[in-house]
Amino acid sequence: MMYITLTHHFGVFEKPYICCWYLLKNLAKMVSANIIVVLLLLEVLVTSGFNFVANGLSMNYYAMNCPLAEFVVKNSVNKALQADPTLAAGLVRMHFHDCFIEGCDSSVLIDSTKDNTAEKDSPANLSLRGYEIIDDAKQQLEQQCPGVVSCADIVAMAARDAIFWAGGPVYDIPKGRKDGRMSKIQDTIKLPAPTFNASDLIRIFGQHGFTAREMVALSGAHTLGVARCSSFKSRLSSVSDPNMDSEFAKVLSKTCSGGDNAEQPLDATRNTFDNIYYNALLKKSGVLFSDQTLLSNAITRSVVNGYALNQAMFFFDFQQAMVKMGLLDVKEGSKGEVRLNCRKIN
Ligand code: HEM
Repeated sequence: MMYITLTHHFGVFEKPYICCWYLLKNLAKMVSANIIVVLLLLEVLVTSGFNFVANGLSMNYYAMNCPLAEFVVKNSVNKALQADPTLAAGLVRMHFHDCFIEGCDSSVLIDSTKDNTAEKDSPANLSLRGYEIIDDAKQQLEQQCPGVVSCADIVAMAARDAIFWAGGPVYDIPKGRKDGRMSKIQDTIKLPAPTFNASDLIRIFGQHGFTAREMVALSGAHTLGVARCSSFKSRLSSVSDPNMDSEFAKVLSKTCSGGDNAEQPLDATRNTFDNIYYNALLKKSGVLFSDQTLLSNAITRSVVNGYALNQAMFFFDFQQAMVKMGLLDVKEGSKGEVRLNCRKIN
């Protein structure tokens, strides 16, 4: 293109110096025009692009129509966790249970009606916590920018903020998820059970596109929170489990003497996001069978060993896997809506 333009100019002018003067002038014009194009492209990339991710979500999705969205959510989360630090775990688990069933569309927040029993009433979800934090953020956002910020995005941001609040990694997430219009109890059958072994876990996470390594990283969310006795009592039979430390078995039995709903911290620091969970697995002190089983498979065991030694590596892999989880089957455009009340379809 440039070559053709130059040849054309050489042909038109007979006197070389006029030709050179025009040539230089036009060259300068072309260069400056190209620089402007390049600068414009860079501008687009820096301000919005780089931030665009698959599915049409973007890091600055609310920059124009609800610029304080991130701030409002963080504020609600911080306020709630200051009053009750145990809720960090609830928010992280809520995001997982949302994304694994019908995608990250906040279907987990919908209340049952007389015609429909929703996901949240499934036995797998009865111990989910933190719904009020989402309601609080949503209420404020509806005042500031009505009908703009989806409940699915609030759940994703709240989980991210809870992880940071508890001492975990800080990371940015793409936004722009729409809320789903259905929530059915029977779909929760697809959630992994605490009785699953490593192969079951690799398979079920694989169905959602995760590698075994990502599954082990995500399981590290069990650095936060508790399990109720009903989730692990099947491990406490009279025959001693060679994969469980005998002293730790006594701790679990003692917890269960308090009944099915008695709570056992999933690691020694239930409100702090760290790699102590993996070190507990190495000491045969994982609470759930589905945690301890990660040591019985060669692939998952080597990942556990790595994370137990290197917390920074765990944080890095965990944040990447969380961003990936937050993109599962995301609904866009008319496939979803922005619910006005997170508990009800519009
Ligand atoms: C690997 C498969 C998984 C299984 C089988 C599993 C199962 C469970 C079970 C049975 C509980 C205890 C529930 C109770 O007794 O009330 C629990 C708690 C929890 N799970 Fe998982 N989970 C898995 C993966 C995940 C993932 C991927 C996350 C998040 C990214 C997560 C986050 C949590 C948190 C934070 C808690 C504590 C909740 C609280 O204290 O309220 N889990 N999980």
